[in-house]
Amino acid sequence: MVLQKKSNGLLLCLGIESTAHTFGIAVVDENGRILSNIRAVHKTTRGGLIPADVADHHVKVCHGVLAESLATANVGLGDIDLVSYSQSPGIGNCLRVGAMFARILATLLEVPIIGVNHCIAHLEIGKLLTAAKDPVFLYVSGANTQVIAYEGGRYRVFGETIDIGVGNFLDTFARHLGLGFPGGPKIHQLSLAGKQYVELPYVVKGMDVSFGGLLTNIKQKYDTKEYTKEDLCFSLQETAYAMLVEVTERAMAHCGKNELLLGGGVASNSRLQEMCRIMCEERGARAYVLPTEYNVDNGAMIAWLGILEYNAGKRMQIEESNILPYLRTDEAEVFW
Ligand code: ATP
Ligand code: FE2
Repeated sequence: MVLQKKSNGLLLCLGIESTAHTFGIAVVDENGRILSNIRAVHKTTRGGLIPADVADHHVKVCHGVLAESLATANVGLGDIDLVSYSQSPGIGNCLRVGAMFARILATLLEVPIIGVNHCIAHLEIGKLLTAAKDPVFLYVSGANTQVIAYEGGRYRVFGETIDIGVGNFLDTFARHLGLGFPGGPKIHQLSLAGKQYVELPYVVKGMDVSFGGLLTNIKQKYDTKEYTKEDLCFSLQETAYAMLVEVTERAMAHCGKNELLLGGGVASNSRLQEMCRIMCEERGARAYVLPTEYNVDNGAMIAWLGILEYNAGKRMQIEESNILPYLRTDEAEVFW
């Protein structure tokens, strides 16, 4: 298929994100200019994510998100040269909606399609929007908690959670306190009024972290009514974020890298950012933080990685535009 560039000579990519509760569509050009970045988020007041419900949400909003994204970018569908979508990893039902929508658009528009890895997309948008060139990436979201760095042709996972993601941990404890979703910002708010540190399990195993035991312990402590919510939230943040900073620092030392990039929804936390900055200053390194819009799941990062891969020569047949819910970060080849 011959690619016709329709917009002032620059390739325009429409990126579709749908790994979990966010359905996002963005339009980005090959110079990395983000023309639009629209998101719709499936929200629940109680309980966790029910995959079929989230998928229904994405089906409901896809048309509106597309229309708003094109209008904001001030382009028409006919201006789009490339469609990219989040192919991995994520919740199968949700990924399928995005992949199907991408397939339909690419087929009707007769433009190429590219499926990309969501975790790597978080990292690449960080490199686009900051001065970081070869960072250690601390990716902290609801489902994911990983310390990633480039080594030997791949983005390797140097450390990760061995049970739940740090965001899910925060959200679960917040629900226990009756704070609702998302819990991270509410826990942070309460932590500011914390007066004393309550000893909590600090679980770092080699390069990995674990939040399951910490969650059980802090819930039990709360139920005894011996501690204030504020002190528990303060202590939770100090403990959980120190664990993350410790494994990140170890990965930086191991790889000999002097840049740290933060990404994922929990990266918006100002205490975590502060702890990372202090650690970096002490090592003579630099910490880079993104605006919240690009920390959370978004279409812009999918569009940008689509452009990087396309311009590096990746081509995908429409029949290959499947989903890979369980693909790990280090299984994806980095060839751009
Ligand atoms: P992924 O699919 O990458 O796992 P996700 O679906 O969990 O992502 P994100 O939007 O990246 O979605 O992250 C959401 C998480 O970020 C929630 O757990 C939320 O509580 C947490 N969060 C958001 N803002 C803050 C904050 N200021 N402090 C701490 N946690 C936060
Ligand atoms: Fe994400």
